[in-house]
Amino acid sequence: MSIKIAVILGTRPEIIKMAPVIDEIENRNINYVLIHTGQHYDHEMSDQFFIDLELKKPDYNVGVGSGYHGEQTANMIKGIEEVLIAEKPDLVLVQGDTNAVLSGAIVASKLHIPVGHVEAGLRSYDRSMPEEINREVADVCSKLYFVPTEGSALNLLFAGLNRENIFITGNTIVDACIRNLKIAKKKTDINHMLNLNGDIMTLTMHRAENVDNRERLQNIVDALTELDELTIVFPVHPRTVKNLEKFDLLKELGNYEHIKLIKPLGYLEFLLLLSRSKIIMTDSGGLQEEAITLNIPCATLRYNTERHETVKAGGNMLLGAEKEKIIDNVREILNNADLYNKMKKAPNPYGDGNSSTKIIDVILSEYRDKKLKISVPEDIMKDKSRKLIKINENITVKDFERINSNLIVNIVFEEGDPLYPFDELDLKDKFILVDHLA
Ligand code: UD1
Ligand code: UDP
Repeated sequence: MSIKIAVILGTRPEIIKMAPVIDEIENRNINYVLIHTGQHYDHEMSDQFFIDLELKKPDYNVGVGSGYHGEQTANMIKGIEEVLIAEKPDLVLVQGDTNAVLSGAIVASKLHIPVGHVEAGLRSYDRSMPEEINREVADVCSKLYFVPTEGSALNLLFAGLNRENIFITGNTIVDACIRNLKIAKKKTDINHMLNLNGDIMTLTMHRAENVDNRERLQNIVDALTELDELTIVFPVHPRTVKNLEKFDLLKELGNYEHIKLIKPLGYLEFLLLLSRSKIIMTDSGGLQEEAITLNIPCATLRYNTERHETVKAGGNMLLGAEKEKIIDNVREILNNADLYNKMKKAPNPYGDGNSSTKIIDVILSEYRDKKLKISVPEDIMKDKSRKLIKINENITVKDFERINSNLIVNIVFEEGDPLYPFDELDLKDKFILVDHLA
């Protein structure tokens, strides 16, 4: 018997980041169904990516369209449930933090179908973001967590999840970025296509907290109109178009020669635009990751980020939505050669472009070992407690767990700082937080 996987996606970033995983599924001849929630439906927000990334047409489109969160999520839950009942997959894969993740994870777990969450463990610690709630709910409902970094793995361990279900794989955006930029370069001349000369800044924004808020959107627009030392190429997300129109700002932006407002681009063209950019300005999650992958400084129009690693690595600056702060810092990045080079050379925390291979390896191995089934635990009467132990001798995590078979190392602390318990990590002089199975 071979595994059957249901892949759920619904928005532009999910299509892009799930594409390498789907490629890997196809390369290994794994049986799968592709379910589109229909959250993004404009040609340039959805179909174009199936063309660019050479994906099969979804087997199902639940067709939820736009709406309030409750309405949209409820329709997804209903539509996805019908498909999962009919298709009976062994595993459901969701990606990221959209409403598709929320509904896919809830429905599948209620049907006792294990959920694999690609890009799990990210945290902005800002519950006013709908995406943060989606991440947290998906954690509770998932079985396998494919996390991009050690930091995201620690977030899950601190949330009380089991280490044996967490796999550090890197982020599939690196796979997508590297593979498709090569293809894109052969296909299109972006300078010719968009009539570009000189330095450019690529800009995207669509976060509800920026574009649904008149004052914040006005501040950002004011900053953009002043930053006329380079061409700003702005492929505008439909949510942003709607709000720029509503707040009467679209015409104003259109009056400035250095600002090029264009429709959203397909992935190949957009990657070319990014790689041609001197700097990237964005409130997008994916772009913060792509910027550091392509070695381009990133100015993020947010006060927090769940991509902390990009800031720590030095490639990303959080500028919020204040006019002067945006202008001053963008100018500083452009004019201070040391800062520019430091940002450009920031190491990529998201892996080497093989995340999708690692994810499918894990899935197949868990399936073979019969670890995917959700059933009543055999040790349901066992007592589980947690305790902190100081280790004084040289011993690796793996050896410690082999010798103490009733203890599972969750988090290691070195001088107060948390570390992920990699198998070969030496525990000498460290504290360990362990699960103790009575
Ligand atoms: C959604 C995700 C967000 C992700 C983003 C990627 C949630 C809660 N939000 O936000 O995490 O970063 O996708 O782009 O899941 N619209 C169109 N055409 C479309 C799609 C949307 O015109 O094809 C317009 C509609 O007016 C809609 C608005 O955009 O009301 C917002 O769309 P929605 O899907 O609700 O959220 P996004 O802002 O796209
Ligand atoms: N993107 C694209 N065309 C565009 C703008 C963005 O292909 O005109 C891609 C971008 O390369 C990235 C993804 O869309 O991979 C990011 O999606 P978005 O910003 O909508 O969502 P987020 O990442 O914030 O969830």
